[in-house]
Amino acid sequence: MLTPEREKKIDELLTRYPSSRSALLPALWVAQEQYGWISLELQKYLAIRLGITPEQVREVVTFYSMYNERPVGKYHLQVCCTTPCMLMGSDDVIGYLEKKLDIRRGQTTADGLFTVSQVECLGSCGTAPMLQVNREKYDENLTYEKVDALVDRLRAQAEGGNG
Ligand code: FES
Repeated sequence: MLTPEREKKIDELLTRYPSSRSALLPALWVAQEQYGWISLELQKYLAIRLGITPEQVREVVTFYSMYNERPVGKYHLQVCCTTPCMLMGSDDVIGYLEKKLDIRRGQTTADGLFTVSQVECLGSCGTAPMLQVNREKYDENLTYEKVDALVDRLRAQAEGGNG
């Protein structure tokens, strides 16, 4: 189910922890890197691989928003909607994104470019409202203009083949 390189990585992870359950979070990252999301089938596979129950895997996948339970677009826009961001307008930001991209939160645009998700605090409350693009980038102190610029930039990036 996973590439030989990823299987090896999981073998390595299993040597690092006293209990195989402790390797679950990094093992899920390894699996998600390959597929972009964690299907039920993949959850069952990881449960067998780690010697734990499918329910133990499912608990983790459904608890942490960084694990995708369904396929996501090339750019996963994760809007923080916890209280500090909410007080600074995150509801407006996510509503604006939904309207602009013509999708609801949790959905992906027809061209497969964008998914919008509502997530909990991303640890950047001082720059609220904010969102995270994929795993690596924060966009902060968001305004409608900044959202427009971000979407334009990501579209141009995708058309230019620059990730
Ligand atoms: S509440 Fe949004 S980053 Fe903390």
